[in-house]
Amino acid sequence: MIKYLLITTIPSLFVLASLVWLIVALIRRSRFRKVAASLVVVEALILIALYFHWFYPKDYPRNYLDYGPPAGLTLAEIAAAKNFYIGAAIGNASDPRYGDLVPSEFNSVTPENATKWRQLLVNGKIGEYDFTQADAIIDYAVSKGVRVRGHTLVWGKFSGKTYPKELDERIASAEDPASELRQIMRDHITAAMTHFKGRIKTWDVVNEPMSMDGPYLDKNIYLNTLGKEYIAEAFRIAHEVDPSVQLFINEQFGNYTGEGVEVFFDLLKWLKSENVPIHGVGIQAHAIFKTHNLDEFRQFVNRVTEQGLLFEVTEFDARIRLFDAAEDPYQAQADYMTEYARICIENPSCTGFTFWGLSDARTWFDFVPPFKWMPPNDPLLFDLNSHPKPAYFRILELLESRKGE
Ligand code: XIL
Repeated sequence: MIKYLLITTIPSLFVLASLVWLIVALIRRSRFRKVAASLVVVEALILIALYFHWFYPKDYPRNYLDYGPPAGLTLAEIAAAKNFYIGAAIGNASDPRYGDLVPSEFNSVTPENATKWRQLLVNGKIGEYDFTQADAIIDYAVSKGVRVRGHTLVWGKFSGKTYPKELDERIASAEDPASELRQIMRDHITAAMTHFKGRIKTWDVVNEPMSMDGPYLDKNIYLNTLGKEYIAEAFRIAHEVDPSVQLFINEQFGNYTGEGVEVFFDLLKWLKSENVPIHGVGIQAHAIFKTHNLDEFRQFVNRVTEQGLLFEVTEFDARIRLFDAAEDPYQAQADYMTEYARICIENPSCTGFTFWGLSDARTWFDFVPPFKWMPPNDPLLFDLNSHPKPAYFRILELLESRKGE
């Protein structure tokens, strides 16, 4: 993100600086006036070109609309026969597309926000819950025999967003911050898991324990108060509350190799050596600034399974503008989606593949700067009109050939 903002703001700053120089040169009637003026023109042209390249709305050909409608079994039907989950994140239970696509195409859902700690609380007040929105999504799914992934119990990162601000205040004023945090964590995990007991059988216990700024664990309130022990503790509490629930650690990786990845594997090894009840790794898989290297992804998942852990792709999406250079961007996006999904679907330790949204009509990218200014994002499996995009048919085939009926 920081890199991206730099790429977009630095040229503007250059134009601004040169403009100031030009004005000063004009006032002083300096002999550099012409140089300054040419610089402003060149830089402004570059800025305009960048604007058109990144921000001007684009319209790519939708050749895939020539295909006939899907015939035969649906994704969800084949997935179910293979003991596999094809999932989508759901924002709102009253979204009409929800009922159209679940359970026909998706046999798993993840509430996009509704089961996050902050969202479950009334006005961010610790301990005061309102489960209405989450229940609406989950009850519908369960009544249709669709699995629900709970997302997520412990998430540091952004105060007031990923956890209630009140937590900072409570820890800052506590006599014994470590035991205060342990107790608050225990209370929340117990409240959420007990409320959804029997309905949510898979939880992302800890979300994004890695830092976005460097190859280390995220220096959030949990880490600062309890050290990495907070991760182990969260899993132990979750297992105590309901030993039948599958417990995942969930993370987004820009690259599947490098120092940060080593820190992540050290964490997994440590959790295993401490006999922490962890069952799987959730790999978010958002393609935000670039697509992922697939060979590195394959090696990465092999290392996960070597630890005796399951894995799932939990939040897949890939912005269409990443495929801008291709003759048929929707086809190129499908190639990427399919080859990424192959690495999961062909692996018996991969239990599910979840898209971060039902269709291109609603994706978080349309709300997050700078992507909201860069339409279209179109990062999902179904288009704006819930028409299956080309990856649909190829993922169907992949599922059909998955072993494990
Ligand atoms: C995002 C949601 O999609 C947005 O609606 C919300 O405003 C912010 O969170 N990693 C995660 C998800 O684990 O919970 C995030 O979801 C996307 C990144």
